[in-house]
Amino acid sequence: MSLTVTPFPAPLGAEITGIDLRTDLNDESFAAIEAAWHDYGVIILRDQDLSKEDQLAFASRLGTVGARGLPAEKRNEVDDYGGAIMLITNKRGADGEFIGSVPEGELWFHSDLSYRPEPHKATLLHALALPDSGGNTMFANMYTAYENVPDALKQKLAGRKVLHAYDFATTEEVNIDDGLDNLQHCWQPIFIRHPVTGRTALYVNRLMSAQIEGLERPESDAILQALFTIAEDPAIIYEHVWRMGDLIVCDNRCCIHARHDFPHDQLRMLQRCTVQGDTMIPALA
Ligand SMILES: [Fe+2]
Repeated sequence: MSLTVTPFPAPLGAEITGIDLRTDLNDESFAAIEAAWHDYGVIILRDQDLSKEDQLAFASRLGTVGARGLPAEKRNEVDDYGGAIMLITNKRGADGEFIGSVPEGELWFHSDLSYRPEPHKATLLHALALPDSGGNTMFANMYTAYENVPDALKQKLAGRKVLHAYDFATTEEVNIDDGLDNLQHCWQPIFIRHPVTGRTALYVNRLMSAQIEGLERPESDAILQALFTIAEDPAIIYEHVWRMGDLIVCDNRCCIHARHDFPHDQLRMLQRCTVQGDTMIPALA
């Protein structure tokens, strides 16, 4: 077997075959994987069979493994390595309760931990159980989204920040009308510069972006809706149909992601971990 990177005929994403991450990951192959991740935003490593430890070991090659945003006392998972492992699943335990997180339903576009001062740069998702249909994950190319923002709007928003906030109790639009005391939140640049590629990306998402700095709410809301429409343009989205054994690595600095619902009587399980990132760099105006 030899490692092969095949870009998708899509606005982002590439498939990687010919490597078993448990046994074949030498420095040369890791460099090729990391380069593909930077080039294509999302990579899909096929036919993996990774325990939690295996997945964490691979993630640690990309940087320091991150801990989840949800406080420990609210997590359902056991053996989660200090919050490093999340099980995205509708599986229930003997007590009838879900054993993991975000079990079912539509999940709006978002960027993981964008409500933190140092959002995690990578999210790794490994398919351990899949429904017969549904549950596809969408990834949108935020470099192209930036390019698609009209020039007048780019000028209006240049150098501004956007408030990202997250309420773990909802999978829809965050409500900041009652204040921010009970929400994890952070002001982020609207346009960011990717620290490796140097490219500019739009950094807003429908689930967590709540208000634009320096604008009254009606104008801010209207502009955010326009930006969400640009960010969710089907022309810049890759929709992933999962296969068992897939390991996805998503670059949260230049991609947002979302999930379609699936039949709730079928089991779906993704094993997730993340890699810490740095403070977001504002794009040069
Ligand atoms: Fe996510």
